[in-house]
Amino acid sequence: MREQLEQIGVQATEALKDVMDMEKLNDIRLEYLGKKGKLTGVLRGMGKLSSEERPVIGQLANEIRDQLEQLLTEKTEQLSAEKINQQLAAEKIDITLPGKKDLLGQEHPLNLVLREMEHIFVGMGFEVIEGPEIELDYYNFEALNIPADHPARDTQDTFYVTDNILLRTQTSPVQIRTMEKQKPPIRMISPGRVFRSDQPDATHSPMFHQVEGLLIDKTVSFSDLKGILIAFVEQMFGKGRGVRFRPHHFPFTEPSAEVDIACLKCGGEGCRICSGTGWLEILGAGMVHPRVLEMANIDPKEYSGFAFGMGVERIAMLKYGIDDIRLFFENDVRFLSQF
Ligand code: FA5
Ligand code: MG
Repeated sequence: MREQLEQIGVQATEALKDVMDMEKLNDIRLEYLGKKGKLTGVLRGMGKLSSEERPVIGQLANEIRDQLEQLLTEKTEQLSAEKINQQLAAEKIDITLPGKKDLLGQEHPLNLVLREMEHIFVGMGFEVIEGPEIELDYYNFEALNIPADHPARDTQDTFYVTDNILLRTQTSPVQIRTMEKQKPPIRMISPGRVFRSDQPDATHSPMFHQVEGLLIDKTVSFSDLKGILIAFVEQMFGKGRGVRFRPHHFPFTEPSAEVDIACLKCGGEGCRICSGTGWLEILGAGMVHPRVLEMANIDPKEYSGFAFGMGVERIAMLKYGIDDIRLFFENDVRFLSQF
């Protein structure tokens, strides 16, 4: 029996050496010290021993049990310490690594320029009024002194929805809508999208943006128009930028002009933006035609006014030196993130 006990002690000590997890440790505890365990089993047989042997074996059994319990406790502590260390290592955060940055959205260059244009004109006392993109033929053409057979309709190739509904080809219809609603003095701008079945190239897009301007009051002259447009160009591009007024024809203004800005990309030598001319057309303008005032029930003998329509993409191209209008609509983030 002594040998049996000593063997149990040796076996258990050996088994405990290699234990790596708590579950195994519990198994061993049960195997040796549990109610049906090996040590307990041996102790049950003690009844057969003589009265001299019993205390000796009893003491030995107690010693071995104490020893095993001691070992089990140590092992339990060791294992739980290891577990905590592993967990700490796994959850370690390297605070010296650079953080991940959330990508912030950015304003589109066209919006930036649009807002700047609005800011400049609001500063000159213009109010901002918007009009519909899907428009009646009447407002887009008829009321602007462009009757059905007028050749000017050919210069603005139109997307028709029905016979008399279309995608507006210009922001000028908002002039008419405003004059119908408001009595002079009127001082408004109207930004928005316009559509033309133009062949896309470096400076033309089938959808682009215009900012319309309209000022109606008593004694408004062409020099007022010139003054306002030059002040705009100076605020937008800085002083000293080449500006030229070219005589032109629009059915709804008389006299009319187009305004070009010196190409900054090539400094006037000729490039893709200016198609080799050194200039890029940014707007059409003129004195509101008396017929247009009459159609809007404003007396041309009492009132006069001027109007203009600016190409927002063209202005953005000149401002940022962008040599292809299509870049605005491809929305390549490498392009967009530069502004
Ligand atoms: C007009 O659209 C007139 N409504 C402007 C106007 C308003 C004149 C008020 C008189 C009084 P035009 O077709 O030239 O005019 O266009 C005006 C500007 O829009 C041009 O100077 C140019 O800067 C821009 N533009 C015209 N077509 C395109 C296009 N396909 N892509 C990009 N920009 C364009
Ligand atoms: Mg033009």
